[in-house]
Amino acid sequence: MVLASITCTAPVNIAVIKYWGKRDENIILPLNSSLSGTLHQDDLKTTTTIVASEDYTEDELYLNGKKEDINAVRYQNVLKMIRSRATKLMDKKHCVHIASINNFPTAAGLASSASGYCCLVFSLAQMYGVEGDISAIARLGSGSACRSMYGGFVKWEMGVKEDGSDSIAIQVQPESHWPDMNIIVLVVNDKKKETSSTDGMQKSAATSVMMKERCAVTVPNRMRDIEEAINKKDFQTFGDITMKDSDDFHEVCATTTPPIYYLNDTSRYIMNLIHRYNKLSGSVKCAYTFDAGPNACIYLPAENTTEVLSLFMKHFPGDNIQTYYRGPKENIPSIEN
Ligand code: PMV
Repeated sequence: MVLASITCTAPVNIAVIKYWGKRDENIILPLNSSLSGTLHQDDLKTTTTIVASEDYTEDELYLNGKKEDINAVRYQNVLKMIRSRATKLMDKKHCVHIASINNFPTAAGLASSASGYCCLVFSLAQMYGVEGDISAIARLGSGSACRSMYGGFVKWEMGVKEDGSDSIAIQVQPESHWPDMNIIVLVVNDKKKETSSTDGMQKSAATSVMMKERCAVTVPNRMRDIEEAINKKDFQTFGDITMKDSDDFHEVCATTTPPIYYLNDTSRYIMNLIHRYNKLSGSVKCAYTFDAGPNACIYLPAENTTEVLSLFMKHFPGDNIQTYYRGPKENIPSIEN
């Protein structure tokens, strides 16, 4: 007999101060705080359906139609934590079947694990009646997932406690604060990346000479400055810090042994184009950022969108570059039915 079922969606977030490196691999505690903007569910999102039934003999999980290993540590950490905080479905005579789909390329550096684990945890939390902060549970699945729990601009405080209870997501500003901020995503390559972020982070933390300074000085200063820029809606400072942090993150990867290269020639072309365009305009009109992949995410004030899009169309005629916008509406994980 089916005991409960639920379908939820959750959006992707795009970091402007990148999370890179863990101090605890098991419960995913980061070496630095990070900050991101959340996209719209209409754009890049995960949809997850969960069914609990007395007839199921084991938990199962399907991602884009393919069966995943539910015994993987991260899934188990999430399930255990949710069940330990449950206020509903507590008699344990049931298992859950979970099906999750992304409406965009998975594992191509487009933050699919962020929307994926956020959606999984949000849906499970609804089903099991988990109360209070659930961003720390999403963090157990994938660090960046905790930031997708809120709309607008969100920071993930690295925290200091060993149990991770203070390593949570906090909304810096809701989307209504800066509604005319758009994001364009240029999908340069939608293939799965060669080096997973888990692998890359581990190697960088162990070998990159840049990591120490980045975690101790650069990121704390940038977190303070970018929060202030967001509060003041100062796009010049916001864009400047965003591009610098993306550049530094890829420099950390390049100074890792063996080096990790997520960007390709098209990514570098886009970076150059944006710097030239901003210079000619005499101000920061748009700002790029790249996660662990070659695809570009471009933050820009809405008024510059048409001009910037036509610039890309001119430089990439006929290329399959997809664009996603973030428009003015609040965006958080939500229940579909
Ligand atoms: O949450 P993960 O393990 O997918 O790592 C995300 C790492 C970056 O996307 C590169 C940076 C970030 O803060 O999202």
